[in-house]
Amino acid sequence: MESSRELRVSKIREGTVIDHIDAGRALHVLRILGLTGAEGLTIAVVMNVPSQKLGKKDIVKVEGVELREEQVSKIALIAPSATINIIRDYAVVEKVKVRVPPAVEGLLKCVNPNCVTNMPREPVRSRFKVVSVRPLKLVCEYCGAELNQDDVIKQLTGGGGSA
Ligand code: CTP
Ligand code: ZN
Repeated sequence: MESSRELRVSKIREGTVIDHIDAGRALHVLRILGLTGAEGLTIAVVMNVPSQKLGKKDIVKVEGVELREEQVSKIALIAPSATINIIRDYAVVEKVKVRVPPAVEGLLKCVNPNCVTNMPREPVRSRFKVVSVRPLKLVCEYCGAELNQDDVIKQLTGGGGSA
């Protein structure tokens, strides 16, 4: 039940709506999806709107795109409350809540340059245990180094981190 005083954003016809994103992180989600706007796809980005669950939230709507599994895994790490809605012919045909798994394999790089996962010759696939979701804290299963939310955002969005 929307009152006429609320901000309304057009429904989309076909594509994906990523809802309940932590406020202020919509642009990180777009980076994860590799979208700049130059692709010509219709994209709506709504930031810092009221949410019952989160206080405030962001929403990203992309016409004509369905997400790959790896993109969903990455979104979970920066927006653990997000829901992914698949839209066909204006209807929500699928709604999935992202899930932060107990361990994250292969997606992230250890911050310890001497970690066995960073050895150039015999690279071992990285593996982190998720010890906390909010605030995010991951621990490398090989060397014990910790990654926090900022480290993960930097790596997943290419924001000047060590990724
Ligand atoms: N949406 C959209 N275009 C459509 C259908 C839905 O942009 N054709 C958006 C809605 O605006 C909403 C999200 O997709 O942001 C999920 O839609 P819906 O499941 O109808 O809303 P809620 O029931 O409020 O979702 P939730 O229970 O996940 O909060
Ligand atoms: Zn390590």
